[in-house]
Amino acid sequence: MKITFDTEARTATLADGREIDLFGKEAFDTLADLWVRLGWVRKYSYAFSWMGRPIIQLPDDMVRIQEAIFATRPDVIIETGVAHGGSLVFYASLFEMMGHGRVIGVDIEIRPHNRAAIEAHPMKQRITLIEGGSTDPLTVEKVRALVRPGERVMVILDSNHAKGHVADELAAYAPMVTPGCHLLVQDGVMDLVAGMPRTGEDWSWNNPRPAVAEFLAANPEFRAAKSPRPFDESQEVPDCSHHPDGWLIRA
Ligand SMILES: C[S@@+](CC[C@H](N)C(=O)[O-])C[C@H]1O[C@@H](n2cnc3c(N)ncnc32)[C@H](O)[C@@H]1O
Repeated sequence: MKITFDTEARTATLADGREIDLFGKEAFDTLADLWVRLGWVRKYSYAFSWMGRPIIQLPDDMVRIQEAIFATRPDVIIETGVAHGGSLVFYASLFEMMGHGRVIGVDIEIRPHNRAAIEAHPMKQRITLIEGGSTDPLTVEKVRALVRPGERVMVILDSNHAKGHVADELAAYAPMVTPGCHLLVQDGVMDLVAGMPRTGEDWSWNNPRPAVAEFLAANPEFRAAKSPRPFDESQEVPDCSHHPDGWLIRA
């Protein structure tokens, strides 16, 4: 693929040979798509932290998640995939500012130094950690037992992103999402970056997107939804996201 951006001529030449306006929507969409994909290779999303904890997210995705949390005000966020705890701390800090809400984080391995840092963190009162495979029935039962009747629940899946695992997580956790709340399936970007450096050979099919598509076809109470955008005066800017097709909402 050959794409040329010519800032002097103010044109871009796309892979199909078309020359377009550098300042038009199509040129920006093309550049954004390339930026996300090259950023994956360069580990751009591994360069941020939140309140002292590494968070493995694109800042754009963090802002979109914040918009969803503030718009829907869940009582509980369940997240699979804790890693260093930055995402849990991020949601917990939003809840702290909102004066309400807590976070349940599930990970197959919570390393001692990460657990110690999360448990010593100023946001710790809003965070519960559960160590275990996210689709292990014992783990799922522990999570379910932590949600009180009547609580509004949002779920974020960010553990193992293989298609089968995501499908199993959807089966286990989607029923916990309450009406009006989101289910965010992360890292559909694997589909977009397949074949590039720092990817797996099977990523073109073994990624979250087909799991989401099959889930949506079988579960009409959920629909694909963009994250809420309470403010958007842009000129139809593209999503710079690692979670294409990942936002679902329960009717
Ligand atoms: C991408 S990281 C999570 C990043 C974190 N949510 C953030 O935004 O900073 C993925 C995590 O999933 C965990 N994981 C992998 N397979 C898992 C499984 N089967 N069950 C639960 N956690 C799993 C890994 O141990 C790893 O910590």
